[in-house]
Amino acid sequence: MAQIREHWSGSLGFVLAAAGSAIGLGNIWKFPYIAGENGGGAFVLIYLICIAVIGLPVMLCEISLGRRTQKNPVGAFKMLSPHRSHLANFAGFSIVFTGVALIFFQEFGWAVILLILGGLIIKCGWTVAGMLGVASAFVILSYYSVIGGWTIGYIIKAVSGHLNYITESAGSKCFSGFMVDLRWVIPLHLGFMLLCALIILRGVRSGIEKWSKILMPILFVLLIVLILRGLTLPGAVKGVSFFLSPRLELITAESVLIALGHAFFTLSLAMGAMITYGSYISRKQNLFLSTISIVILDTVIAILAGLAIFPAVFAMGFKETSGPGLVFNVLPAVFSSIPGNLGWLWAALFFLLLSIAALTSGMSLLEVVVAFLVDELKWKRGKAVFISSSVITLLGLLTAVSFADWSRLEWLHIALVKAFHISHGSFFEVMDTLTASWMLPIGGLTISIFVGWIWGTRKAVEEIRHGSHNFADVHLISLLAGLKDDPSHNNSRYHVLTLASLWGIFIRFLTPVAVTVAFLHKIGCLNIK
Ligand code: TRP
Repeated sequence: MAQIREHWSGSLGFVLAAAGSAIGLGNIWKFPYIAGENGGGAFVLIYLICIAVIGLPVMLCEISLGRRTQKNPVGAFKMLSPHRSHLANFAGFSIVFTGVALIFFQEFGWAVILLILGGLIIKCGWTVAGMLGVASAFVILSYYSVIGGWTIGYIIKAVSGHLNYITESAGSKCFSGFMVDLRWVIPLHLGFMLLCALIILRGVRSGIEKWSKILMPILFVLLIVLILRGLTLPGAVKGVSFFLSPRLELITAESVLIALGHAFFTLSLAMGAMITYGSYISRKQNLFLSTISIVILDTVIAILAGLAIFPAVFAMGFKETSGPGLVFNVLPAVFSSIPGNLGWLWAALFFLLLSIAALTSGMSLLEVVVAFLVDELKWKRGKAVFISSSVITLLGLLTAVSFADWSRLEWLHIALVKAFHISHGSFFEVMDTLTASWMLPIGGLTISIFVGWIWGTRKAVEEIRHGSHNFADVHLISLLAGLKDDPSHNNSRYHVLTLASLWGIFIRFLTPVAVTVAFLHKIGCLNIK
């Protein structure tokens, strides 16, 4: 007998769980520094536009795919794919031919990968898009969990008084020692995976939903506390202006593409996460309102994170730096410099905030893989959780032991160089490039083309209409003109600009083109300055 699928208890449960997935390390350490580097307020504006015209429409695609099929990403694509798709065949054969061509250039590693991928596409068609999603979630979680472990380690260090240095150089010394110290890093990675696994084991309602309802409000309160502390320091305004004042001269075409890539990453798109969470929504819920709420929550938290970080950094006379460095090297020193000897407390609260954000994202990544195993291979939830989290943990160990250099993994390095000619960067960077530069744009492209052209926007809008009343049909022009109730504007339901028609145009044309440009730029085929 088929098992009945578990559902969220209501809209709030779904919105908080999905916001938990979206709000992660991306919001708290990545967004503030890329905004700072790329033109402050002007970048924030471009980012908001990317979120509104690309992120939100794609999220609506994923959520409606999930709810329509009530399945994991692989099952969702399988269910809605046509028997034969010329586009999929074309893509499959092109990839196979490219693979064959690479053999002549002696690129055997890449050739094998392309031959397998192309063969899979020819055999399984669009379902491969779902498989790529599950694979991305799998790979991302392996390294996300290592960084999640660091954040927990830093809570422990803060509480035990080990972060009481006040210079950046002391901070980076502490951090570079920490991340290669396997006595810390490995148990923390295992601990983080264990927490994710325990929550996912409890299922949708009493696991994911319950913990999201507890953790998300805590995250919000912590953020507000930190903002109040930062903003009330003398000199905090400089930080606010660094983050938000529009420096138009720093805006380049490249920053637009960075904003676009980050919009996908921060909303957890293109990896099947929102398809999976969407598959636990009941038909009664309003997809449109839920999607808007998730997107707004994610955006607000990203901006608040900037306000929690930069005012304190500038008020204490530190310079902005970028990347993990900002969070792990500089912030502890900033907190210790705040007068009043409560540095350990501010640092502990901050890293608690970061751990919570990472945990709610980590568990959604695990759920993507588990949902696939449970739906497609008919595994029991317990077995699926146990096996998937164990394998992910093992893959993550490779990242954990090789963060600083390859010395502990020479064999892997030699194999990678031999097979793929990848010589630079750590294992983490290889995994990060694989997912963020390749799988994420390809996932975004396939989802928008699939919904826009294969499944079809008409059927997608039909799905969105369930529970959303007439939202999709709001007549935009009459709404903007204040003529919403004017009978002659509402008579003609067709050939008007409605939210649904605008969404369809974005999904069919704007998203595929924008994502393709960003992808070609990222892999170096298109040089945009
Ligand atoms: N959105 C997460 C963040 O901002 C990262 C992320 C990307 C993610 N894709 C995901 C999380 C898929 C869960 C599922 O940090």
